Amino acid sequence: MTNYDAGDVLTVYGGTPLNGELRVRGAKNLVSKAMVAALLGETPSRLYDVPAISDVAVVTGLLELHGVKVTNPSDGEFVFDTSDVESANVDEINVHAGSSRIPILFCGPLLHRLGHAFIPDLGGCNIGGRPIDFHIQALREFGAVVDKSEKGMDITAPDGLKGAKLELPYPSVGATEQILLTAVRAEGVTELRNAAVEPEIIDLICVLQKMGAIIKVHTDRVIEIQGVPRLVGYSHRPIPDRIEAASWAAAALATRGDVFVKGARQVDMMTFLNLYTTVGGAFEIDDTPGEGGIRFWHPGGELKAVAMETDVHPGFMTDWQQPMVVALTQARGLSIVHETVYERRLGYTAALNQMGATIQTYRECLGGTPCRFGRRNFMHSAVIAGPSKLHAADLVIPDLRAGFSHLIAALAAEGTSRVYGVKLIQRGYEDFEGKLNALGAHVELG
Ligand code: EPZ
Repeated sequence: MTNYDAGDVLTVYGGTPLNGELRVRGAKNLVSKAMVAALLGETPSRLYDVPAISDVAVVTGLLELHGVKVTNPSDGEFVFDTSDVESANVDEINVHAGSSRIPILFCGPLLHRLGHAFIPDLGGCNIGGRPIDFHIQALREFGAVVDKSEKGMDITAPDGLKGAKLELPYPSVGATEQILLTAVRAEGVTELRNAAVEPEIIDLICVLQKMGAIIKVHTDRVIEIQGVPRLVGYSHRPIPDRIEAASWAAAALATRGDVFVKGARQVDMMTFLNLYTTVGGAFEIDDTPGEGGIRFWHPGGELKAVAMETDVHPGFMTDWQQPMVVALTQARGLSIVHETVYERRLGYTAALNQMGATIQTYRECLGGTPCRFGRRNFMHSAVIAGPSKLHAADLVIPDLRAGFSHLIAALAAEGTSRVYGVKLIQRGYEDFEGKLNALGAHVELG
């Protein structure tokens, strides 16, 4: 473990319940998209409650490369001035290659503003193949010409972008956002079937509507967008980060603690709350305007094993899976987890086993309906036998959400763990070290 600098290693003295209060801000998976949407507006946009996470820094860097003036007049408030949008230098864009998946969403806005776009090879968490075929297919149907070059993708629209009738093979979040960000200023009407309808997507639609877009969300995953010739800037307060909220809720359960997550909203977390109660966790909603949140705690006694399956909204989010699995190592009996969104999102369970958990992964679709990954050699189901006493270990963080799970496991375990690669957690969790300290955890960097 010699390749990590001191700021990238967290020493965790485990075994202390997390107790106290923290606040979640705007959802990472909306904020980054709203920042891209600002490119479409002819006047400045203003976004509030933006968390200080590295994904925001990556998108800020990309916007600035394209001539957007980004200012931060007060804590969490960002202003995007798009009056001088310009082409960026390919080599400069490539500096951001590999650090995030957001650049793919620049396609539509850049095509509308500049007539061409260059997208570097993409990064993001390594949790499956993460292809972009739905994105490319949709862009082509809008009339874009996509050429793969050595360093990334060159995209042009010689005849402009025109509305299209589209149907996604799977309700992909990113592809739905791609289509929204392209269709709003394409000529004519776009009809999208089998769209993703996650709350972050609905919030992006709210942003676009504020900018002047005309978007109808029908039932059964159908979204209709009527293109308009110009859009203006927006002023928006994003929905709270329901993934971060659930991560702290799982941490409270795994450490037998009691955590008030200020800013968390019931409406975005109903499916999570159902499972939390079934496992034996307790929660209480405080809906005081501006002050509210959700208190999550372990009510004592034993947790119960469950069978669960991840799915697109309104199902149980794939990003909630890893933190909850750590809590499930403490439940009595056999829990079953079927991951149906990403084919390789259970690799992190090997580290939990090293710490004393008993988790076996399977190729079969266990406990639920057969999914796209069945019989295809992907270890995408798990059986967790509990309760297991977790002990400390040296852990290397593989990706964002699995990384936070490692952290929860280290907090729940007896003894001193060293967690390597914690900077990856900063992609999606604002000041997690400060929050851990505020909750009474014994952790130190280095
Ligand atoms: C978003 O990823 C989120 N990322 C993910 O959160 C989240 O896990 C995911 O949606 C599902 O909710 C951001 O919003 C930045 P998808 P995205 O397209 O849009 C397949 C986190 O930790 N697919 O809905 O990239 C794909 O392989 C991150 O915050 C194709 O096959 O996810 C996957 O199996 C991790 N072809 C499924 O669809 C495509 O062209 C869903 O992916 C696109 C996707």
